[in-house]
Amino acid sequence: MTTVATEPAPALLRPHAEQSFADELRALRAVDDRPRPPSWTMSPWAVVTYLLGDTLTDGTVITPKYVGPRRLMEVAVATLATDRALLLLGVPGTAKTWVSEHLSAAISGSSTLLVQGTSGTAEEAIRYGWNYARLLAEGPSEAALVPSPILNAMRTGAIARLEELTRIPSDVQDALITILSEKTLPVPELGMEVQAAKGFNIIATANDRDRGVNELSSALRRRFNTVVLPLPGSESEEIDIVTRRVEQLGSALELPEVPAAAEEVRRVVRIFRELRAGITADGRTKLKSPSGTLSTAEAISVITNGMALSAHFGDGVLRAADIAGAVIGSVIKDPAADSVVWTEYLEAVVRERREWSDFYRACREING
Ligand SMILES: Nc1ncnc2c1ncn2[C@@H]1O[C@H](COP(=O)(O)OP(=O)(O)OP(=O)(O)O)[C@@H](O)[C@H]1O
Ligand SMILES: [Mg+2]
Repeated sequence: MTTVATEPAPALLRPHAEQSFADELRALRAVDDRPRPPSWTMSPWAVVTYLLGDTLTDGTVITPKYVGPRRLMEVAVATLATDRALLLLGVPGTAKTWVSEHLSAAISGSSTLLVQGTSGTAEEAIRYGWNYARLLAEGPSEAALVPSPILNAMRTGAIARLEELTRIPSDVQDALITILSEKTLPVPELGMEVQAAKGFNIIATANDRDRGVNELSSALRRRFNTVVLPLPGSESEEIDIVTRRVEQLGSALELPEVPAAAEEVRRVVRIFRELRAGITADGRTKLKSPSGTLSTAEAISVITNGMALSAHFGDGVLRAADIAGAVIGSVIKDPAADSVVWTEYLEAVVRERREWSDFYRACREING
């Protein structure tokens, strides 16, 4: 007998939500004795608990995934149990994609029935395509049909995800109308239709800034319940989000431990919030806002970047110099207009804060 040397599978760069949080999902399903909508793997209560975090009666800690108003998540989850689809709307970096992934992982046990919307998305990506080799050899048959993730979700009563809905051309978007109103997908080539199993629904996401690109038709809009995800309400909430995500990302990327980055997290969040709001936190100085969004997601990557710099090229402690470059890169998206905004902020605000002198120096060094 020969033995084949099996190399261990390489660790995944980014496991799906249902993989990363398999233990939490299992524990929740085990204690969950509330009624479950057809095909759901847990009750709406358990889904909201999974998103917002809690400690279960058996002691299992459910980590918060979404930080923000509970009511929004309740509305989102309740919508998915009705015949309306869910549209998550918001400015970039407000966790629309993140929430959509976790919702489908909790409800259907899988977040992978995903269609990425782009200006090139064709109807086949929403309905079905054909395996042309088979089609030519055997003619149209069910075996030659290549189902879209949405068609697969209809068959199994699962949640399908549709990212960036408004980037999809309007005539292609309209392929969704029959699916959402009649819950069926005709396949005229085969003289048949696929009727959705109970539990099927769609979570779409769309970016506020894209509005107007391909506005949703009113026929389609009526089939969606819209939940707007806001930017974090308070500075402490935003610090909390960034801290949590940086910790998770840092351990997923196996970055060497970088001690308490709390100071720098607070500083980055403060800078982003002040520039976004166009006024300093003490309400004294009016500021110009840069053209970019300065989202929470960007704050997370500024810190993660800084941690990699400090771990590999610095002294292992996150310092102002490790984040200055990434902060400036986030603020200055438009080289002309945003440079003015940044220079004003640097000289009028950063320079005046004694405890920020390290950061001021680091920024000046980059600006030259
Ligand atoms: N309120 C929040 N709670 C938890 N995580 C958040 C929150 N806001 C932002 N994040 C984090 O920000 C990151 C980016 O979120 P995501 O990619 O889902 O944004 P998005 O709204 O889909 O943005 P885009 O419009 O650019 O697609 C994620 O890592 C997410 O964890
Ligand atoms: Mg997104």
